[in-house]
Amino acid sequence: MVEKEEATESRNQARLTIMELANMISVPMALNAVVRLNVPDAIWHAGANSPLSAAEILARVHPDGDAENLQRLLRMLASYGVFHEHLTAAQRKYSLTDVGKTLVTDDQGLSYAHYVLQHHQEELMRAWALVHEAVVDPRKEPFERANGEAAYRYYVKKPEMNELMQKAMSGISVPFMRVMLEGYDGFHGVEKLVDVGGSAGDCLRMILHKHPSINQAINFDLPQVVANAPPIPLVTHVPGDMFKTVPQGDAIFMKWVLTTWTDEECKCIMQNCHKALPEGGKLIACEPVLPEHSDESHRTRALLEADIFVMTIYRAKGKHRTEQQFRQLALSVGFPHFRAFHVDHFYTVLEFQK
Ligand SMILES: C[S@@+](CC[C@H](N)C(=O)[O-])C[C@H]1O[C@@H](n2cnc3c(N)ncnc32)[C@H](O)[C@@H]1O
Repeated sequence: MVEKEEATESRNQARLTIMELANMISVPMALNAVVRLNVPDAIWHAGANSPLSAAEILARVHPDGDAENLQRLLRMLASYGVFHEHLTAAQRKYSLTDVGKTLVTDDQGLSYAHYVLQHHQEELMRAWALVHEAVVDPRKEPFERANGEAAYRYYVKKPEMNELMQKAMSGISVPFMRVMLEGYDGFHGVEKLVDVGGSAGDCLRMILHKHPSINQAINFDLPQVVANAPPIPLVTHVPGDMFKTVPQGDAIFMKWVLTTWTDEECKCIMQNCHKALPEGGKLIACEPVLPEHSDESHRTRALLEADIFVMTIYRAKGKHRTEQQFRQLALSVGFPHFRAFHVDHFYTVLEFQK
């Protein structure tokens, strides 16, 4: 009976799918490898993006490397849409797809490559072996179990991790902010804006460029983070701890901050923002927002996968939330007005108004 069942098409598919899932780690690790080897920039080559063999790519980045092994990485990643494979009788050649192009360094020195590297640092990889511990005892996150300290505290003590984190944030925030500022107009009338957890200040720089009515801006982040932030006209970098207090402004901006904290911690941050805002003032948060239903779309998967990243690295009970969960949080800290703007596939703009 079992033998007969094993032979059916659906069982066959199921065994194939579980093999794919069980080997899935090859995908991010191969991606990390090609970024480390600087393959996307080598193929891009000032916009040429001409199909190249693994040997031709290696000649540009690591002339002594093993072309056969690089080709194995490229082939597999082509099956995930990172590279186009150009197959001739003689050779396999590779160019960048639109996905691959997100890894190419732009004229500001930014790309998604730093985010890939940031996610695969040794300290973070150690935490991934302990994901199950977040279920067994969520009081301590896998990252802290593996490294002895919570992630943000750990990063700021290591200059190279701190720098990579800031580059990773900039690489993602700049393209998102371009889209956000096209589709969202909630900064109208604001003169003083505070960015809580603003990292290097890229979001503020772009908001100020689009909204000249803002004549004063504060980039608020941990002391070691603002110490590395570059000077930006009209922006004051202010060190501090958002769990204690937040600088006052007409409006507060916050991107990718609430996600990494527990409900109680989010309430504390939001209460501090509430205190720092005038009557009618807005907290504008850009966060990943989970759909109610689980499906197999790229969007749902990207959001659910990043949710597990939060659980593993930042807070075992920090999480991606649904719109309804954000609405509840807002009400519980005294923001009666809540609106959500869907301007991007990954982040939603959440407006909490006093
Ligand atoms: C995921 S990053 C987002 C950075 C930036 N908003 C962006 O989206 O590019 C979270 C930021 O929160 C900052 N942060 C963490 N704990 C903080 C605290 N207690 N007070 C202020 N900022 C904090 C981190 O240093 C980091 O820059």
